[in-house]
Amino acid sequence: MLTNYQKEIIKSTAPVLREHGTKITSRFYNLLFENHPELLNIFNQANQKQGKQQLALANSIIAAAEHIEQLEEIMPVVEQIAHKHRSIGVTADQYPIVGDNLLQAIADVLGENATEDILNAWRDAYGVIANIFIEVEANMYEQAEQQEGGWKGYKEFYVAQKVKESDVITSFYLRPVDQQPLPPFNPGQYISLKVSIPGETYTHVRQYSLSNKAGGECYRISIKRESEYDPNGIVSNFMHEQVNEGDTIPISAPAGISH
Ligand SMILES: Cc1cc2nc3c(=O)[nH]c(=O)nc-3n(C[C@H](O)[C@H](O)[C@H](O)COP(=O)(O)OP(=O)(O)OC[C@H]3O[C@@H](n4cnc5c(N)ncnc54)[C@H](O)[C@@H]3O)c2cc1C
Ligand code: HEM
Repeated sequence: MLTNYQKEIIKSTAPVLREHGTKITSRFYNLLFENHPELLNIFNQANQKQGKQQLALANSIIAAAEHIEQLEEIMPVVEQIAHKHRSIGVTADQYPIVGDNLLQAIADVLGENATEDILNAWRDAYGVIANIFIEVEANMYEQAEQQEGGWKGYKEFYVAQKVKESDVITSFYLRPVDQQPLPPFNPGQYISLKVSIPGETYTHVRQYSLSNKAGGECYRISIKRESEYDPNGIVSNFMHEQVNEGDTIPISAPAGISH
C-alpha cells in the first residue's frame, strides 16, 4: 500500500515523467537490453527501431500510477495488455527486472531532482501495479493451460497447408504436432508465433489473428507480406519464403479480448 504522502508525490511528479517520457523510455530500453539481453527474444526489435511502441509500456505505467486510487477504472486496459503478455509468455519474475530498470532510467533522467522519496514512491507504485498484472496473467495462464487441449507457453504446430491467397497474403493452416484437440477461440482472438530464423541470434515473436472459424482441426492465420525491401518485415517475409508445409513452429494458445 502507498502512503498518502507517496500518492501526493505520484500525482505531482507524473506530469514531469510524462514530459521526459521519450528520454526515460529510451534509457529504460537501453538499460533493459544491456542488463538482460535475453529479453531481445520477446520484444519486437522493429518496434524498437521505429520507436513506435516503446512509449506504450512506460506511458501505461505512468497512467496506472495516476489511477492508483481507482485501479478498477483501468482494469479493462490491464486485461487487454495482460492478454498480450500471456500470449507472448511474459513471466512473473520479469516484473522486478522491468521495475528496476525503469526506476534506474527515471533516476538517470531526473538526475538530482530524483529524491529518495520520489524514487521510493514510484518503486512502490510500480510494485502495486505489477502485482495486479501478475495476478491477472496467472489466471490467464491457468485458463489457457486447463482448457481442453490447452497448453502452457508455446507448443509445436506444423503447417498442414500453405495457401497463397493473393500477391501479398498467404494463409497457413496449423495443426498441433501432438495431435491433441484444439482449444476453441472467438472472433478477434490471435496467437503468437515464435520463430527462430537461421543466422539470427534471437527469436522473433509476432501476433496473428485467427482467420478461420473455431471448431475445426486447424488454426488458420493469414499473413500479409511486408515490403521485401529494406527495412524488411522479418517474420512475414520468413513465413512467406521459408516456411512450408510440414514445417513446425511454436505457437501460444489463442488470446485477446473477443469481439
Ligand atoms: C493482435 C495482432 C494481430 C495481428 N494479426 C495479423 C494478421 O492477421 N495478419 C498479418 O499479416 N499481421 C497481423 N499482425 C501484425 C503482425 O504481428 C506483424 O506485426 C507483421 O506481420 C509484421 O511483422 P514482420 O516481422 O514481418 O515485420 P517487422 O520486422 O516487425 O517490421 C514491421 C514494419 O517495420 C518496418 N521496419 C523494420 N525495421 C525497420 C527499421 N529499422 N526502420 C524503420 N522501419 C522498419 C518494416 O518494413 C515493416 O513494415 C497482427 C498484430 C497484432 C498485434
Ligand atoms: C506493470 C508493468 C507493465 C506494463 C504496464 C506493461 C504495459 C505494456 C503495454 C501497454 C504494451 C503494449 C500492448 C499492445 O501493444 O497491445 C506491452 C507490450 C509488451 N510488454 Fe509489457 N508491460 C509491463 C510489464 C512487462 C514485463 C515485465 C515484460 C517482460 C519483460 C513485458 C513485455 C512486453 C512485451 C514483450 C510486449 C510486446 C512489445 C513488442 O511488441 O515489442 N511487459 N506492455
